[in-house]
Amino acid sequence: MSIWYPYTQMQTLGKVPIVSKGKGSILYFEDGTKAIDAISSWWACIHGYSYKPLNRVLKKQVDTFSHVMLGGLTHQPALQLAEKLVEITPKGLNHVFFSDSGSVAVEVALKMAIQYWSNQGNKDKVKLISCKNSYHGDTFKAMQLSDDSDFKVAFSYLLEKDFVVEIPENPDDYSQALQNFENLLITHSSTIAALIIEPIIQCAGGFKVYSSEYLDGLNKLCVKYNVLTIYDEVATGFGRTGKLFGTNHAKRVPDIMVLGKGLTAGYIGHAATIASTKIYQQFKSKEHDKALMHGPTFMGNPLACVVALKSIEIFQKKDYLTKINNIENTIKKIFETIQSEEILDKRVLGAVGIIEVKNKKSIVGFKEFAMENQVFIRPIGKMVYLMPSYRIKKKELVKILVVMKRWFEK
Ligand SMILES: Cc1ncc(COP(=O)(O)O)c(C=O)c1O
Repeated sequence: MSIWYPYTQMQTLGKVPIVSKGKGSILYFEDGTKAIDAISSWWACIHGYSYKPLNRVLKKQVDTFSHVMLGGLTHQPALQLAEKLVEITPKGLNHVFFSDSGSVAVEVALKMAIQYWSNQGNKDKVKLISCKNSYHGDTFKAMQLSDDSDFKVAFSYLLEKDFVVEIPENPDDYSQALQNFENLLITHSSTIAALIIEPIIQCAGGFKVYSSEYLDGLNKLCVKYNVLTIYDEVATGFGRTGKLFGTNHAKRVPDIMVLGKGLTAGYIGHAATIASTKIYQQFKSKEHDKALMHGPTFMGNPLACVVALKSIEIFQKKDYLTKINNIENTIKKIFETIQSEEILDKRVLGAVGIIEVKNKKSIVGFKEFAMENQVFIRPIGKMVYLMPSYRIKKKELVKILVVMKRWFEK
């Protein structure tokens, strides 16, 4: 086969449905069938497929210019998007570095964090703290910081972690966990550049929901012991958790925030790493070597920027947070009615619904069952999750949930 698919054993690969059209939350296939998309193409297509207002700005931009490098040149869409992101992200995040994917934006954040210290003459602070159950992407450093899941098993022997924090399942354990974290920092902070964490909910690495109290606790200790904080909002950003950003649930703001996926509403791969002025200032110098030496060819791509600007405008004008709240309520209501011995836990946060099973075996065949019932959904490990487009119709959402219910009750 010429094409090589992601996360797929090509030898046992079955038939892959060929998409011929997408409209709203519906995917249409070449063989004449269709399915409701429950996961909005890895959670990126927040307005669904082929949304006219986004299509229009793209077409207009294509006729103007579709790309120009940001090295030595600039353009209005990139300037305006940077300003808009500074305006809508939590106060203090003021400097936007664009890149072409979430993984690369994570790499940029890590480079910023390490170089922040080395630009001040401190070459000892190079280690990183990451979390169990996290996922930060598939590039090498992002993989190293992600949980030891299927995503990186082939490379595990190469990817030794510096420090790992486990977010407690039970809020009663937060205080002890924070004490342990403080002990780690007391001993090792002189060698640690930053903590990287997905705020409020860890997505692909385990779909664990946790409280902002714990996040703020970690953040406060990082400040106390001179360790930077990086919040990876590639999955949580743009409304997924019920607020515009996961960080908005918390009181404290990170030094660096990473955005991707929903940023461009699934139209074009793009991402942003947004730094506080404290970070940015350490890169300003008469010495060229202190600059941030990173520059993806497609950073600030104007097609991506105009789509992102329009997407944010619509999100705000059309009160998407209410739509997300309605999605959350519908998922919660139907989840309550889904009962099965196989289920370990059900979790709902914003436009994310997760059913975690006790044993992976109980969801073998679920994807095919859903497809036979015109629903496209793709479990990860022991999780059946849905993360639909925010414009999904209520009857489409109910249909997805009914298919889940039928599977678990059969
Ligand atoms: C939290 C998080 N960070 C980073 C990434 C990597 O993004 P990309 O696939 O665009 O490289 C993902 C992708 O799922 C993610 O969920």
